[in-house]
Amino acid sequence: MSAHGTPIPMTAARSGPLTGTADVPGDKSISHRSLILGAMAVGETRITGLLEGQDVLDTAKAMQAFGAEVTDHGGGEWSVQGVGVGGFAEPENVIDCGNSGTGVRLIMGAMATSPITATFTGDASLNKRPMARVTDPLALFGARAVGRTGGRLPMTIVGASDPVPVRYATPVPSAQVKSAVLLAGLNAPGDTVVIEREATRDHSERMLAGFGAQVQVEDSTQGRVITLTGQPELKPQTIVVPRDPSSAAFPVCAALIVEGSDVLVPNIGLNPTRAGLFTTLQEMGADLVFENMREEGGEPVADLRARFSPDLKGIEVPPGRAASMIDEYPILSVVAACATGQTVMRGVKELRVKESDRIDAMATGLRACGVEVEEGEDWWIVTGRGHGGVSGGALVQSHLDHRIAMSFLILGFAAKAPVSVDDGGPIATSFPIFEPLMTQLGARIDRT
Ligand code: S3P
Repeated sequence: MSAHGTPIPMTAARSGPLTGTADVPGDKSISHRSLILGAMAVGETRITGLLEGQDVLDTAKAMQAFGAEVTDHGGGEWSVQGVGVGGFAEPENVIDCGNSGTGVRLIMGAMATSPITATFTGDASLNKRPMARVTDPLALFGARAVGRTGGRLPMTIVGASDPVPVRYATPVPSAQVKSAVLLAGLNAPGDTVVIEREATRDHSERMLAGFGAQVQVEDSTQGRVITLTGQPELKPQTIVVPRDPSSAAFPVCAALIVEGSDVLVPNIGLNPTRAGLFTTLQEMGADLVFENMREEGGEPVADLRARFSPDLKGIEVPPGRAASMIDEYPILSVVAACATGQTVMRGVKELRVKESDRIDAMATGLRACGVEVEEGEDWWIVTGRGHGGVSGGALVQSHLDHRIAMSFLILGFAAKAPVSVDDGGPIATSFPIFEPLMTQLGARIDRT
């Protein structure tokens, strides 16, 4: 089933050269944070280029339920009239975060240090995902959580009426956990400290500083130490959301594996905590050129040009790079299938608790398409079939996971026989214009 309706089966077939410009949507991580921090500022935050995918729309609705005024002005222009740190009202109804782990975990953090109670739910995928990773540190602030067995949604959070600041070392590399703790720390007196062994995406730190909070980041022997001083007055911002490198990954990888392709993806965010895929692709022999490197709204941005790369080679992806490309392993495995040799991906246990178990979902679908995959709890190895060597001709399951659906459709553009997915509906959570954008570049996708 799709997240919000009946399944939408889709089929992708071998395609001619992909050419032209791919204007991918706004960054999902920055879009969620713009709405949440906008709701916690005093006054009006203006946002341009917001991702209008279902995940972010669900967060916009949630911010309204907590008392902020959120207005869609059309064309990606939004405004948020914030209620200030500690100003959230108690929602009158259950908060439905749909498919979005980022949405629910960040919002739980943002409300956990206010004396209000909220109940959260999501779709069948989100309601399977672990929430204790967030509710454990929120309990240290004084918040209480009651959910289903194994810390699953639906779940009620009773916010702390007398929150205390927290010092917390994240046990898993997760920007969602880090961000939930920092957002909770906003309404606790004194310094909240998060320590992460491996650097994860740092949009929360950058944006909190942009909104006027006092945030210090230091590298220590324990890892990155982030210190936030609680109870600031956040100042409303004007935010231009860069385009999402995780969405750019799909047309970029499609161009690399479809003969004769030459695609330009303008204005993509290239924050180093997000750009690991592009380094990996270059190490595999991809023809990628970064043009017009610049800084916009505190984030590095460039135009990325990707051309067909016939001699892609499998590599061992350094495990230390995993956090900076965690959402890109599904599409990387598709490129790996079209390369020669083995691509080895280790230190990626987190892939098992995303919108689906992404190692299992990709391994099963790739095998059905004639590609050899070995896997263990926190690793997998794809043996490439070389350019034009993937058989395809399979119907694969997307498991309510947008990135699994898009990855297999891209594989279909380069495989010998078409590749179908049982449900492309979830693509709308992060990349609602995926089909028209890919079609306009020359790809063949049908709703079947
Ligand atoms: C995100 C963090 C990542 C990523 C997700 C977006 C964020 O999850 O997979 O798509 O915006 O903070 P984890 O923090 O759980 O790794």
